[in-house]
Amino acid sequence: MTDIETRTTHWNGRYRGNAPESLSWFEAAPEISLSLIQRAVGPSWSVLDVGGGASRLPDALLDAGHDDITVLDLSGEALSRSRARLGARADKVNWIVGDVTTWEPARKYDLWHDRAVFHFLTERADREAYAATMCKAMKRGGTAIIMTFAEDGPEKCSGLPVRRYSSDDLTREITSLLHGNLGVGETGRFTHVTPTGGEQRFQYCVFHCMNPSEG
Ligand SMILES: C[S@@+](CC[C@H](N)C(=O)[O-])C[C@H]1O[C@@H](n2cnc3c(N)ncnc32)[C@H](O)[C@@H]1O
Repeated sequence: MTDIETRTTHWNGRYRGNAPESLSWFEAAPEISLSLIQRAVGPSWSVLDVGGGASRLPDALLDAGHDDITVLDLSGEALSRSRARLGARADKVNWIVGDVTTWEPARKYDLWHDRAVFHFLTERADREAYAATMCKAMKRGGTAIIMTFAEDGPEKCSGLPVRRYSSDDLTREITSLLHGNLGVGETGRFTHVTPTGGEQRFQYCVFHCMNPSEG
């Protein structure tokens, strides 16, 4: 199996075997993501949720009047869960099954949102591939919001090892991967409470893209 097939099997298994509400990363209302997104872009701007899984972010964005929403995830199982939950409203969202390290975007987006995906990329080559996708997918002047486990967050997520980041680590890593073609905006920390009551410290950083691949 390739690394991507292994990843896909792992994540499909997680979503197939468990109710989304029982998974450690579940949040009933994605309040921090929504607030950061709404501070960055208006409802007519395009939003790409990278590794969106079965998150309720598309529901919240639709409720807030957004009409150009795309969710990318390597797990078709996860996206099926969201589609079923949204019912007829699912047709208002673009669903893409793909791995962020190899996905070839067919268009560009105003906003890149990643909650708890980048931290799984423990190999530099995968992080470079993630950044290459980011470059292809983002409009010049667009915004990227990246949320990872913080330096004092868990060492694993979903049984997989993660790379943890402080604010400086995350801004340094993303800036280096994007060769400085972005500006650093707001950074902050928050605590996610899991469905079983555990606390997970997260770090987030907002980046403003100066994408050289778009004229
Ligand atoms: C911890 S979950 C977070 C899901 C969602 N962002 C949320 O906040 O509820 C990580 C998600 O990333 C997806 N994922 C993991 N590696 C990925 C990759 N390389 N490309 C695309 N999706 C990936 C998984 O299938 C899973 O849905």
